[in-house]
Amino acid sequence: MTELDNKEPARGFNRRAFIGGAVGAATLPLAVKAAGDGQGAFAAVDPRLPVNVTLQVNGTARSLDIDARTTLLDALREHVGLTGSKKGCDHGQCGACTVMVEGRRVLSCLTLALAAQDQPITTIEGLSQGDELHPMQQAFIDQDAFQCGYCTPGQIVSAIACVKEGHAGSDGDIREYMSGNICRCGAYPNIVAAVKQAAPAMSDEQKG
Ligand code: FES
Ligand code: FES
Repeated sequence: MTELDNKEPARGFNRRAFIGGAVGAATLPLAVKAAGDGQGAFAAVDPRLPVNVTLQVNGTARSLDIDARTTLLDALREHVGLTGSKKGCDHGQCGACTVMVEGRRVLSCLTLALAAQDQPITTIEGLSQGDELHPMQQAFIDQDAFQCGYCTPGQIVSAIACVKEGHAGSDGDIREYMSGNICRCGAYPNIVAAVKQAAPAMSDEQKG
């Protein structure tokens, strides 16, 4: 132990008090005012207790009892059983977990399931109509836009959003607006070709 470790900071404030204060501040949002106490006191809610969440996944309501800290990705994969969305980095850096929430692409590894409650969620499993693939799924097959396929569900969901956002007008635009989706197999030229193939079919679909 060094001399510094032994030295108590001034005014009676020590490391133990600091850590206690920091933990208290961090858990403050998890405290709720005790009902009917009339004293303004707060009662802690155990964050490990499950909360009930209803997710609208691919047109079906799914009621789950989950830890409030569960990400949307884990809720989909571990609780709903839809394993198409992939966990690549779990840190918002690869795009493998991309799903759509209310038509917007989101990284489900960075989204709390609670935050997506009651909003329509579309995953890769919800894109086809029975045996008929979504034009973007078909284009990925036609253009051979994958090798191992691990990134592909996220690429396809992101590519659909890219077209709907109006960002598929040029190769440069497609590369730019698909840049959040990493492909370790380097299938990028084929992915761009797939987006270009699917875009007109998607706009025809929207017109019809
Ligand atoms: Fe979500 Fe990589 S797993 S961005
Ligand atoms: Fe293998 Fe993209 S196809 S990571």
